[in-house]
Amino acid sequence: MIAFDIRFYDSVSSTQDEACRLAQAGASHGTVVTAREQTAGRGRHGRYWASPPGNVHLSLLLRLDLPPPRLAELGFVAALAVADAVDAYVPGRAALKWPNDVLVDGAKISGILIEHAGAAAIIGIGLNVLHVPQQTPYPVTSLGALIQHDGAEEDGEVVAVREMLLGALARRLDGWQSDGFARVRADWLRRAHPSGTALHVSTQAGVIEGCFVGLADDGALLLDTPSGVRRLLVGEVSLRVGR
Ligand code: BTN
Repeated sequence: MIAFDIRFYDSVSSTQDEACRLAQAGASHGTVVTAREQTAGRGRHGRYWASPPGNVHLSLLLRLDLPPPRLAELGFVAALAVADAVDAYVPGRAALKWPNDVLVDGAKISGILIEHAGAAAIIGIGLNVLHVPQQTPYPVTSLGALIQHDGAEEDGEVVAVREMLLGALARRLDGWQSDGFARVRADWLRRAHPSGTALHVSTQAGVIEGCFVGLADDGALLLDTPSGVRRLLVGEVSLRVGR
């Protein structure tokens, strides 16, 4: 099982930046950077990630000797770990949206960003615990909103959720390394939008509409479109409503 070396910070620009800096300075496999707040938290596609005190922000540095195409597997492993942690508070309600979002009742509660620093991979996870970010382009929620927590004991709540999440991450990484991606893929599919769900996928080439028909062996999204089944490696998915 992976051993974490956790570095705590009060405020950083982004835990990803700090993890990257530590990776370049030789930090070891299992180094975790976590901060009470991020002043320039970032999300996928260069988006801003609101990161006030009261939410979990962490980056995990891994030295895995993984060929670059397999890096995407880490996002699915991490999403399952977040869903496990969310289960501890609202059992069975976390759902997964390709590639790495965790939603509860259709609202995003966590985002995952996979980056690399040389040969090291960095998994960044943001999980809304006590604060629901405002003005996001999609619905959002937090654990506190789901369990009607009053916002007191801020640090204690965040510490408990972060510990739960790190435990789940260690177990999911262990399972992935011993059983491979096929098992992760099967677990992910069980918690994802069902086959046949109508999806919109924004890509650099424009919006593609189709029905979800599964996940390829490498984590690519399989979308049944009027021009046949497309295999997408990058994109932003939203569920089509009312069709
Ligand atoms: C997304 O767009 O859904 C991914 C969001 C990832 C946010 C986390 S918070 C910890 C780490 N540090 C960052 O700056 N981003 C990631």
